Amino acid sequence: TEQWIEAGSVDGIPADDVIGVEVAGKDLALYRVDGQVFATANICTHGHARLCDGFLDGHEIECPLHQGKFDIRSGKAMCAPLTDDVRTYPIRIEDGKVFVAI
Ligand code: FES
Repeated sequence: TEQWIEAGSVDGIPADDVIGVEVAGKDLALYRVDGQVFATANICTHGHARLCDGFLDGHEIECPLHQGKFDIRSGKAMCAPLTDDVRTYPIRIEDGKVFVAI
């Protein structure tokens, strides 16, 4: 079953950027775009690269290793060499704190 776990504060994520956080032993990427927060698994589905080291352009994160792109809203793999989507996690904001459903 799902558990809501605090993953830090909204202010801890730079605007229109991505950070890596460990939540309940999982490596997650937290994004802030237009004031909205999104979470995905941080490890690329293609190889062992961390998406928080990639380049965020709007709602697309580009993997630093082979430039595969995911839509952070759906986790959808947008281009080669990716074949598998990345997992996304539901987010809830309370009092400026980010909670992730794990
Ligand atoms: Fe991410 Fe290859 S490891 S695109």
